[in-house]
Amino acid sequence: MKRKRILSGMQPTGTLHLGNLEGALRNWVRLQDQCEMYCCIVDWHALTTLYNRTDQIAESRRILVAEYVAAGLDPQKCAIFLQSDVKEHAELHLLLSMITPLGWLERVPTYKEKKENLNLEPEAISYGFLGYPVLQAADILVYRANAVPVGKDQAAHLELTREIARRFNHLYGEVFPEPQSLIPEETAVVPGLDGRKMSKSYGNAITLADDADTIAAKVQSAFTTPTKIRKTDPGDPENCVVCRLRRIYDPNHFQISWEECRTGVRGCVQSKRELTELLNAVLEPIRKRRTELLSDPTELDKILSNGAERARATAAETMKVVREAMGISTA
Ligand code: TYM
Repeated sequence: MKRKRILSGMQPTGTLHLGNLEGALRNWVRLQDQCEMYCCIVDWHALTTLYNRTDQIAESRRILVAEYVAAGLDPQKCAIFLQSDVKEHAELHLLLSMITPLGWLERVPTYKEKKENLNLEPEAISYGFLGYPVLQAADILVYRANAVPVGKDQAAHLELTREIARRFNHLYGEVFPEPQSLIPEETAVVPGLDGRKMSKSYGNAITLADDADTIAAKVQSAFTTPTKIRKTDPGDPENCVVCRLRRIYDPNHFQISWEECRTGVRGCVQSKRELTELLNAVLEPIRKRRTELLSDPTELDKILSNGAERARATAAETMKVVREAMGISTA
């Protein structure tokens, strides 16, 4: 039986955080043994916001390779590569852009949100910014991927990818499978320190680079139950960041601590101390491995060039089929 093909990607905009790790990367690691995996670092996507700071993108790409591997991805099992190293993504993006109605893009909720929340300059709302999800569709469809492991914030982009695939298939014949989204149940949206979704741009993230003291300080500042002033005051764990993160990092025993929080048997000080310990136990080995890997940039670049070679072979096959189906070009 043919192995399922999986593609996913992350933007090289700095160090990854717990949202990236628990929302997506954990699933990638889990899938790598039974699937054909393509793990992309989407540097062209990062240009939508960092077009005038390309040095940051270049610096972040090695960080991402190191973090992918430190979190457990095996470069022998999956192709870890840079989007801009596989030009087929750009060709398919162009072709798909011709069959994607503008109205579909203007309705994408992430477009509206980013436009409103990120306080972008009018000139930053570019043609490429609106077309961001078309490039994402090309990333996925150029591998004819069956499934895409991501966090919940990507659900609308995946829905659009399926619509674009259906439209292409309808116009030119069955070329693309409709990719399924693989969104984890408990960690679909990992909360940040202020209770909103954890996100680099909100400044509410715990990152894979944070040392033990930084993690302790961040957890200390996290949003809990505002009316729980004393230990004995009843807490509201469903709406407390510390308790919600505990649920992720202590899945088998969190209920006891939630009950103690609710009934005023435990206070936030104890909950924060215990969460700090839990987080450190998980993050310390990743952090150590990350530092080791970052000390050898040549090795990281080698991972990327090997990955690109494998990715290119698959992408080139798809593009042949696409050109044939559309009846354009002779190559
Ligand atoms: P990006 O770089 O913002 O995020 C990378 C992955 O991390 C997940 N994620 C979260 N999951 C749970 N809780 C959170 N707080 C959280 N924050 C981030 C995201 O859902 C994502 O899975 N558009 C994509 C990049 C992309 C892509 C692709 C993804 C480009 N092409 C093709 C999949 C397939 C993005 O900006 O992810």
